[in-house]
Amino acid sequence: MTALPWSDIWRHLTAVRFSPLALRRMLRTGRIAEGVCATRTVAAAGATGLFDALRQGPCTPEVLIQELNVSRSRLRVILDAGLHFGILRKSRGGLRLTGLGRAFADGRDPLYASALAYCEASVGGGPAFAARLGAGHSRTRDFYERLGRRDEASIKEYGTYMARTAATPARTLARAWDLAGARLVCDVGGGFGVFSAALVARNPHLESIVVDLDVVKPASEAWLRGEAAQRVRFQALDFLHEPLPGGCDAVLFARVLHESDRATVKRLLAGAQKALPSGGRLAVFEVLRQRDLGNPVPVVLAAWEVVMGAPGEIRSAEDYRTLLTAAGFQDIRVERPFDLAGWNSLITARA
Ligand SMILES: C[S@@+](CC[C@H](N)C(=O)[O-])C[C@H]1O[C@@H](n2cnc3c(N)ncnc32)[C@H](O)[C@@H]1O
Repeated sequence: MTALPWSDIWRHLTAVRFSPLALRRMLRTGRIAEGVCATRTVAAAGATGLFDALRQGPCTPEVLIQELNVSRSRLRVILDAGLHFGILRKSRGGLRLTGLGRAFADGRDPLYASALAYCEASVGGGPAFAARLGAGHSRTRDFYERLGRRDEASIKEYGTYMARTAATPARTLARAWDLAGARLVCDVGGGFGVFSAALVARNPHLESIVVDLDVVKPASEAWLRGEAAQRVRFQALDFLHEPLPGGCDAVLFARVLHESDRATVKRLLAGAQKALPSGGRLAVFEVLRQRDLGNPVPVVLAAWEVVMGAPGEIRSAEDYRTLLTAAGFQDIRVERPFDLAGWNSLITARA
């Protein structure tokens, strides 16, 4: 199990001045989220046949991908989470079951057999859950259809949730992204515009266009108030089917690209490259995973959320470097700015 790096936590704490009460609440909320993901992990190990495969002995991820009907990115999430929750461990021959994992896998102890059945029932079990993990699950569908939200009230509810979770990361991004000299940012999938508002507040000469689906427009405009509203405007646009607006010298994808499959990310980055002038700035603000298994808990939780809700994945810095280079971007830099409320990294590049 990978521990949180305490030196990082300390730097974050001093940077954002968390109160002890807020910190305690946040850690407890984290435990609740971990509980949900632990249940999913055990259920997934049962549903995909991972328990059966590892009962015989250790296996490498490469062998497991041949044996199980699960996509490579989904398998990585399950293995990472299995390590984190202590049902798997690394060994010389690959990954193996721990004593706890073996108790689930054997099915001989009625307590663990019932616990496995309970986990499977808790995630809805059966074909729908298995289909999320399956090799064919990468279809990009309409965003709100996928979320099961189409009516205005639930879209507003989702956007409000995103906007509330954006407040601290938005300030973090505004501190970290150097926009000196930039005039106009295109905030792609910008939702209610929280990131845009933080950027224009930090950069007095900057304006921003929030590009998002037309259904988001009324709630976004109602959310943006004060000075931010003067320098942030909303443009209704479906980025899967329409080009980004011209005239911007910076493009931001904040917490957007992990939602999409690789082919769509390639298209979106190519679109950003086309919309920007030569030397224009690009920023991707995302949770990143490390390349090897054994990711810290914020990554494990984020990765499970993507599995449950989107065709995309939590990618590594190397993945984004490859994607950005293929789209023609240069001067690619990756950093993880201090933000205890999130685990986002900032990737910047030039068109
Ligand atoms: C995960 S939210 C991120 C919102 C915001 N950037 C943040 O971090 O708070 C993804 C956003 O992308 C928008 N979106 C999804 N598909 C879209 C599309 N095809 N065209 C435009 N916006 C889209 C959604 O409406 C939503 O606001």
